[in-house]
Amino acid sequence: MDTREASRRKFIQFIASSPLFAGSTAALAADEFISPIPKPTDPLIWAPLDTTKAIKNPKEAINVFDFEVAARQNIPPSHFGYMAAGIDDEVTLRANRADFLKFQLRPRRLNDVSKIDTKVELFGRTYSSPIFLCPIGGQRAMDINVDFQGEVAPAAAAKVGNHLQILSTHASRSLKDVNAARGQPVWFQLYATSSFEITKQLVKNAEAAGTEVMAITVDRTGGRNQETLARIQKTDTRVCEDCHKDRGPRPSFAEIDTKGVNMLSPNLTWDTIRRIRDMTKMKILLKGIITPEDAKLCVQNGMDGFIVSNHGGRAEDSGRSSIDSLPEIMEAAGKKIPVLIDSGFRRGTDVLKALAMGATACGIGRPYIWGLGSFGQKGVERVLEILRTELEVDMQQCGVADLKKITPALYRRISA
Ligand SMILES: Cc1cc2nc3c(=O)[nH]c(=O)nc-3n(C[C@H](O)[C@H](O)[C@H](O)COP(=O)(O)O)c2cc1C
Repeated sequence: MDTREASRRKFIQFIASSPLFAGSTAALAADEFISPIPKPTDPLIWAPLDTTKAIKNPKEAINVFDFEVAARQNIPPSHFGYMAAGIDDEVTLRANRADFLKFQLRPRRLNDVSKIDTKVELFGRTYSSPIFLCPIGGQRAMDINVDFQGEVAPAAAAKVGNHLQILSTHASRSLKDVNAARGQPVWFQLYATSSFEITKQLVKNAEAAGTEVMAITVDRTGGRNQETLARIQKTDTRVCEDCHKDRGPRPSFAEIDTKGVNMLSPNLTWDTIRRIRDMTKMKILLKGIITPEDAKLCVQNGMDGFIVSNHGGRAEDSGRSSIDSLPEIMEAAGKKIPVLIDSGFRRGTDVLKALAMGATACGIGRPYIWGLGSFGQKGVERVLEILRTELEVDMQQCGVADLKKITPALYRRISA
């Protein structure tokens, strides 16, 4: 207890024991007397997100979190748990949100912001927004009460807003279907598996489907302990086997024999990455970079870019958020190749902070799955629309009309 607090307490005790202020009510009155300023209130106390009442249509959503409540009601508990869960104590998952508060924006005034340009160019294609859809496996399980479209619904939504989409190796829909819905090739995310023969086959198939860019995920090489999933799973009354027993392989593995193969890739090294790089004309990014050392190695090993990510807190419970790592990663990698980022992005201001640090684009994972799980394509469309609008308004307020004009002067770090 500091000395001010100690003497305040002493004074209250004195007042309370005084015959003039007998009884506890008097002591409280004394407290008010000492501190006449009302305790600060937070406006969110009066208008919190009601987690018991889901929105009925996408237009009702005020921010992206409204979709989480609706998705929670729609998606079976086991599937919702799989999506929501991180690792162990969820320290990294929480840090992914909380650490945005370590950084502030530095708004500038009197710049003409009547026209906002959020266009971004990546590997010869122009997107209307720097917000992209991260690869998320098995999306049919997440829109189960809507229309079973899986990754095709986000693709159609990404087409409406002209966003980049990355399709998971473990997607429940094929590259062919998703490209058709998006109207242009999406990026392919590669899980290499423990077999280089299978890796080669996956790369060949991606090329054959017209893929121009491939992101190799390098942060899921070991096991993981998804306790949140295990606990939520217990609340599901259905038997997993009833649905899963007839499920065939994912489309990526439709013609690949994976018997005896570790679907993770504990044997993945820089040597494997170089071999993949040398076997394809596709642009190659690594997804899951979280330290400056690995960022430097990406540049040295001729990667075309990389994605700063901790897999949305699902890889290891390191406690290190993506956003906290970004400034030192940018310092190490320079601006030689595009640096994308994901994990915890939920607000236009989150995106703006990362862009100010030097990121080229920011990915969202769970938020668009909340949209998918509540209203299918229309839900994803609205999630993207909300984030686009927030970013545009934030750019206006900060005095930057064009993404290209954003510099590190737009942010500052306030704590380590
Ligand atoms: C349910 C779920 C499945 C995922 N599947 C994959 C995957 O197949 N491949 C991959 O590289 N990342 C996968 N990720 C990680 C995302 O691509 C992304 O890094 C993460 O979701 C971003 O964090 P956010 O959910 O906080 O936005 C998955 C994430 C979730 C939540």
